[in-house]
Amino acid sequence: MQAIRMALGERSYNVYIGAGALDEVAVHLRRAKMGPRLALVTNPTVFELHGNRFRETLTAEGFDVSVFTVPDGEEYKSLESAGRLYTEFSEALIERSTPLLALGGGIIGDLAGFVAATYMRGMPLVQLPTTLLAQVDSSIGGKTAVNHGTLKNQIGAFYQPVAVFSDIAALKTLPRTQLSEGLAEIIKSAVIGDELLFRMLERRTKEILAGDERLLQAAVSRAAAVKISIVRRDEHDTGLRNTLNFGHTAAHAIETITNFKVSHGEAVAAGMLIAGRVAAGMGVFPASALERLRAVISAAELPLSLPLNASEVLEAIKHDKKMMSGKLKFILPTRIGQVVISDRVTPDMVAEAIVE
Ligand code: NAD
Ligand code: GLY
Repeated sequence: MQAIRMALGERSYNVYIGAGALDEVAVHLRRAKMGPRLALVTNPTVFELHGNRFRETLTAEGFDVSVFTVPDGEEYKSLESAGRLYTEFSEALIERSTPLLALGGGIIGDLAGFVAATYMRGMPLVQLPTTLLAQVDSSIGGKTAVNHGTLKNQIGAFYQPVAVFSDIAALKTLPRTQLSEGLAEIIKSAVIGDELLFRMLERRTKEILAGDERLLQAAVSRAAAVKISIVRRDEHDTGLRNTLNFGHTAAHAIETITNFKVSHGEAVAAGMLIAGRVAAGMGVFPASALERLRAVISAAELPLSLPLNASEVLEAIKHDKKMMSGKLKFILPTRIGQVVISDRVTPDMVAEAIVE
């Protein structure tokens, strides 16, 4: 099992990555003198696949585990679900010092993280991501959130976990389409800051999709390392952390106008191609690099084109929160492994790129 340090002063923690990482949690908690009471938050899908067995590893070590489940689905990442958890925690006499273990994908991680940040003004949070996306992105960096009306991820808190355990073996039960979703974020991380990871994806994406554990471990740890190195320097998202939104400006617009019929991974793939095309058109990103990006996206079984109306996408981008003082703020690649934040991108450039 690998450990990567998120160095944030007194909020520092380790991100553990490896097959069987969930089996190490009990010993880790014991050593950290946490418990004996634990609150495990998960959903029924994940609980049946991994939660039961995981709970047994904890009870075998003498922990007293209370399980709280939230139904599966983005619509349950809500204030209502948070409210239900507060009530259930209070009825079960969960205390401020009780560690909350968040076992699941990004939805459980975000919701349980938000509850950990707010119940009794903050309980220790352990992130146990079980999707590829959650292992490389949402479990790391302390962004917790719920949705509210049309506000997606806008009600939340920065709240760092005390540890993250990414069990590569848990990914075995993940549908192939969910691996593609996670790969979109891994490709994103590679373009932002790790050319070697990108080269690995060029050669080995098929094997990653087939569930090769050794390659998954390498991809997860390299992508996690990119995010960790950025968050360490800009925990509260005041500048550099915005580069993690490479591909996401157009992606959010595409998700909005298609009413989320286009998945997040598909939208991010399209968003990265649009940003890459804009950058190539400005002469800051080589056409050959854009071709490599297309090839990797295709190998990850993500679409290279979507039936979109360019002006609708553009309108939605303009309403996006990244629209600053009338200018589009775009994350542009300058080579594989490096991006810049640019305010020189005009709506016409984006429209042309969407059409292409
Ligand atoms: P998800 O949590 O819905 O998980 C996808 C599906 O896989 C669910 O049905 C889940 O029950 C199932 N699942 C989870 N683990 C499984 C496993 N091991 N085997 C089989 N099935 C499994 O979706 P996600 O893609 O993990 O996360 C998306 C969420 O993450 C969104 O709400 C998004 O806003 C959020 N997010 C947050 C951040 C952040 O920084 N906090 C970053 C990116 C995304
Ligand atoms: N997912 C982007 C961030 O954590 O900042």
